[in-house]
Amino acid sequence: MIKIAIGSDHAGFRLKKEIKEYFQGKDLQITDLGVDSTDPVDYPDIALMVAESVARGDHKYGILICGTGIGMVMAANKVPGIRAALCHDPFTARAAREHNDANIIALGERVTGAGLACAIIESWLNASFQGGRHQRRVDKIRAIEEKYCSTKKI
Ligand code: RB5
Repeated sequence: MIKIAIGSDHAGFRLKKEIKEYFQGKDLQITDLGVDSTDPVDYPDIALMVAESVARGDHKYGILICGTGIGMVMAANKVPGIRAALCHDPFTARAAREHNDANIIALGERVTGAGLACAIIESWLNASFQGGRHQRRVDKIRAIEEKYCSTKKI
């Protein structure tokens, strides 16, 4: 079963709940790393937890939700090994996996309705990384990371 970590800030809490309900009983093990309410929090704290969990290999993939998805994707992409994609449609979500091998998907509750959000996630999960020239490009992302990130690993 695919292990997925999910997290949101207060502005993504309701959409996270709907996503969890939609995928319940499907062939996924989704672990919610917070938050548990709409009390205001800072999205980088949640992004870091989910991104580190994926980078460590505790979870294969991550789903991050905030108001727009923008803060989450920015923060998650600072963690070495993370390729987080902010998606608004199933086409982009599929490409995020096929071309970019995205291991985290970010969504915005204030932007994307629950039905579309679930279709986006399904499209991303059902796609496969195509390798080949895309592998070379993903390797170059990793090389940028190695050039600029600290040597400290998770
Ligand atoms: C919270 O108001 C909002 O700024 C946050 O959820 C997110 O949209 C940031 O990118």
